Amino acid sequence: MDVDLPSVPGGNLLGHAHLFRKDRFALLRSAAEAGAVSRIRFLHRSVLLASSPETAHEILVERAHCFEKSPGLRIVLRDLAGAGLFTSEGPLWQRQRRLMSPLFRASAIASFAKTMRDIALRAMARLPDGASVDLAREMTRITMSVVAATLFDSETDAEADELGRALTVAFGWVDEQLASSRLVLQVSAFEAFKSLGAHLPGFLAKLRDRIGYALSGPLFLPGHRDASLQAAVRTIDSKIQAMIDERRLSTSTRVDLLTKLLLARDVGDAGGMSDHQARDEAVTLFVAGHETTANALAWTFYLLARNPEARARVQAEADAFDLDATGQPSLARLDYTTRAFKEALRLYPPVIVLPRWSVERFELDGRTYPERTLVFVNAFGIHRSSGAWPDPDRFDPDRFLPERETKRHKSAWIPFGVGPRVCIGNHFALMEGPIVLATWMRSARIEVDPGRTVEPDLFPALRPKGGVPARIRRASTADSLRVTCQT
Ligand code: HEM
Repeated sequence: MDVDLPSVPGGNLLGHAHLFRKDRFALLRSAAEAGAVSRIRFLHRSVLLASSPETAHEILVERAHCFEKSPGLRIVLRDLAGAGLFTSEGPLWQRQRRLMSPLFRASAIASFAKTMRDIALRAMARLPDGASVDLAREMTRITMSVVAATLFDSETDAEADELGRALTVAFGWVDEQLASSRLVLQVSAFEAFKSLGAHLPGFLAKLRDRIGYALSGPLFLPGHRDASLQAAVRTIDSKIQAMIDERRLSTSTRVDLLTKLLLARDVGDAGGMSDHQARDEAVTLFVAGHETTANALAWTFYLLARNPEARARVQAEADAFDLDATGQPSLARLDYTTRAFKEALRLYPPVIVLPRWSVERFELDGRTYPERTLVFVNAFGIHRSSGAWPDPDRFDPDRFLPERETKRHKSAWIPFGVGPRVCIGNHFALMEGPIVLATWMRSARIEVDPGRTVEPDLFPALRPKGGVPARIRRASTADSLRVTCQT
């Protein structure tokens, strides 16, 4: 690791792990101030932080072939998301991405718009006039139901809730592990085992493989949290297997994403994906597809309540928002709302760093680094840097006017990542966010407490700490419909 690189301030003897766990936000901002490339340390292991659009682009686009997802991410997610799209690499990832991309094209998901609107309407209808709610929790319920409806055709929220609860337990455990020193040691041990002599005699090679396999996944220690992950994984496995079994029956008439996954075929591959692969993809989509969008929605409500001018413009679009002649909600009428949602994703990107691990030597910002270097692309730091965004802390949806977007570096806005591993659900999320916002703002006045500054929490994604409390005033008079600050 290049010792000339600026080290991010605040490290102690054990490195920056304590800051990464407790104040990741400040750490990432000071990394962006320290330079386009800086370094932090977890125990003995240094990590590069790429904190400019240019260096993000070098890693995620130009030299994407030099990197994989970080081994820590794969280890922690092995039992939950297995070899799903988020964690897989190489030919398996290429094949799965080829199979799944067509299912997520804008045209393929357009028919989900009505489901999204209906679920948002149903959630609002359950709330009595004057209800006090946490918008973060409400949005999680909505996005979880949307992903359950589109992925599993689940009709009841209870079905989504049960799976959702198990996934929330599992994902909470994952996030805790990602910032733990135990993981850093495990990654080092895993790497050491992988590189142990290729010519070991039979029984030693077997032992190496067994230990290597054990180290490639979560190491369970006796304790409540670890046991809860195992129980959650068992629930997830049995529920999803039952859904797969039902869809494998020739009598199934479902048209959900899981059915499409099971029917997807690659060139020259008659069999399609195995049950196990479909299970991994389904869990991946369920996990990746709701918490992120829910947090982005909660932040958008919060930011709108603090920016009355922007709020009024979103409200005007929401008031005019309805089904078009074909019975579908039209996104074309939600231009400003979409920009507001994108701006919330800039200020509070649900995925704040994109971890990568080099599989060969690579160049970054004019220097060469060795194989097995751990790099974090600092999405949060880039989104909040004044170099990339004038007046970066200001909420200004018009930054996303097409003429302003074309003037910006392509990797200045990376809430969905960029390059070959860009989020497969980005069109889905950019459709769901504005539709849910408009549906709720059309149906009620949503009063967010203006006296409360909401801080970001990082568990398990960048969510509002303590939620976004609001009061719901049902729309009895059309002209009173708006998201507003209480007076
Ligand atoms: C606002 C909402 C969302 C945000 C901010 C988000 C963010 C991201 C990011 C940053 C990545 C790339 C990670 C990397 O390069 O290391 C990613 C990948 C992924 N996302 Fe999303 N996501 C969102 C919604 C969704 C939805 C709705 C789905 C599915 C229904 C989804 C499924 C996935 C999958 C499967 C991947 C892995 C893609 C691959 O590696 O080929 N995401 N997401």
